[in-house]
Amino acid sequence: MTQDTQDQAKASGSLRLRFLLAILLWVTLGIAAIWYSATSVFEAHVEQSYHEELEVHVRELGRLTRIGEDGQLELTRPLSDPRYEVPLSGFYWLVTAPGKRPLKSESMTRGGLDDEVAHSPQITHVVEEGPTGPAITYGFIRQGPNGEEIHFVIATDQSELDRLIDSFNRELTLWLVVLGALLAATGIAMISFGLRPLDQLRRAIARLRRGEADRLEGRYPSEIAPLVNDLNAYVRQSGEMIARARVQAGNMAHSLRTPLAVVTDEAERMAEIPGAQASAKVLLEQTRMMEQQVEYHLARARSAAGVRTPGTVSHLPELLVPILSAMRRLHPDRQFVLAEEDCEGATLPVDPVDLSELLSILLDNAGKWARGEVSISLKCGGDGTFDIRISDDGPGLSDDQIVQAFDIGTRFDPATPGSGLGLAIARDICTAMGASLTLERGVEGLTAHIAFYGLDREA
Ligand SMILES: Nc1ncnc2c1ncn2[C@@H]1O[C@H](COP(=O)(O)OP(=O)(O)O)[C@@H](O)[C@H]1O
Ligand SMILES: [Mg+2]
Repeated sequence: MTQDTQDQAKASGSLRLRFLLAILLWVTLGIAAIWYSATSVFEAHVEQSYHEELEVHVRELGRLTRIGEDGQLELTRPLSDPRYEVPLSGFYWLVTAPGKRPLKSESMTRGGLDDEVAHSPQITHVVEEGPTGPAITYGFIRQGPNGEEIHFVIATDQSELDRLIDSFNRELTLWLVVLGALLAATGIAMISFGLRPLDQLRRAIARLRRGEADRLEGRYPSEIAPLVNDLNAYVRQSGEMIARARVQAGNMAHSLRTPLAVVTDEAERMAEIPGAQASAKVLLEQTRMMEQQVEYHLARARSAAGVRTPGTVSHLPELLVPILSAMRRLHPDRQFVLAEEDCEGATLPVDPVDLSELLSILLDNAGKWARGEVSISLKCGGDGTFDIRISDDGPGLSDDQIVQAFDIGTRFDPATPGSGLGLAIARDICTAMGASLTLERGVEGLTAHIAFYGLDREA
């Protein structure tokens, strides 16, 4: 199908892939933006509430501390947050005053805090090395009853804050991945939904090509409908053009045949006049050539002007039935034997008039030259290939003759009636159908082989 491969437009990427990439990019950007803003907001929020909590606790510590009857520091009651009592929990406090025993949280079973952090009556904070790693440390000083400076220090491990933020980030990431996958999946579903009319159009075109429809059927969205309407108008126009071409070709045949017959008649009469024989011979030769040309071009025009009328198909082997019965009448002393393989209900997307003409030409040749039997074999491959072989047991042709046999007017056996046009027309029809026609020499006789390939029966 050289014609078809030439017509094939080069695909430049896939529409589906484009949409898919666009959606993936869009989803990724969206998810990344959500992730970034959510983590920053959460981080700021958690940090702020952490610091506020520490400030409250250090104030509480200041309120609960007093100098006992023994002149030592003591708490009127434990701090409200129980985490300060769990050993090495990451929550610690320390109260010191010069000349007194320092007071510290039960959680601080080892290590210590720097009481210099508390250096002003204003609450200040720094990140200091604590008993269990870097800690956010708050402190302030207050005057005792005897004018001594009491240092209040409270600390929480930085890792506590990091752990909170990390666990939030992990959870958020997981959810966003799930959300991204859901969005991508719905995106893919949307693409399929959006491109459905194009799939429908492709199927409609395939039906048209297979001849199951004579136009593109179905309803299409407003973006595609004008294109479909244009295509349908084009299909209709080309169908009409073919029909018109056939009528015009027929008319031309009639208008040329009569004058040609008259001229031939005159030339034959001239041939009887002594002295005019030479001219008559030239005239007769030329008119015969003109007749051949007229017949040849008529046959070409008849074979759908090279284009199949859209919506027509040929059914094999049914198509052969009337042709074979005509051949049996035409060549009563020859056997016509049909053998087929996997061809039950096969349809070919070709014009039945053309295919009938092609088969008639080849069967007639085989019938004329066969000694006793003509065999027709049909082979239908599942992959859109289709083979027709017409063999006879006649004298056959030499390789040189096979090459010339397709030329207009070539005849090797003037004793047998014919015009020398059959094979030329047959090859033209084959070319127009997208099939190949070859003559092959068999053990005896000649085989004409028509091969269709890549016919889209399903697509
Ligand atoms: N099956 C065949 N066996 C032998 N010779 C053939 C066969 N088919 C065609 N030919 C030869 O090829 C020539 C051209 O065939 P074709 O174009 O059909 O013209 P026509 O049949 O009108 O003579 C024929 O004249 C014949 O000599
Ligand atoms: Mg012939």
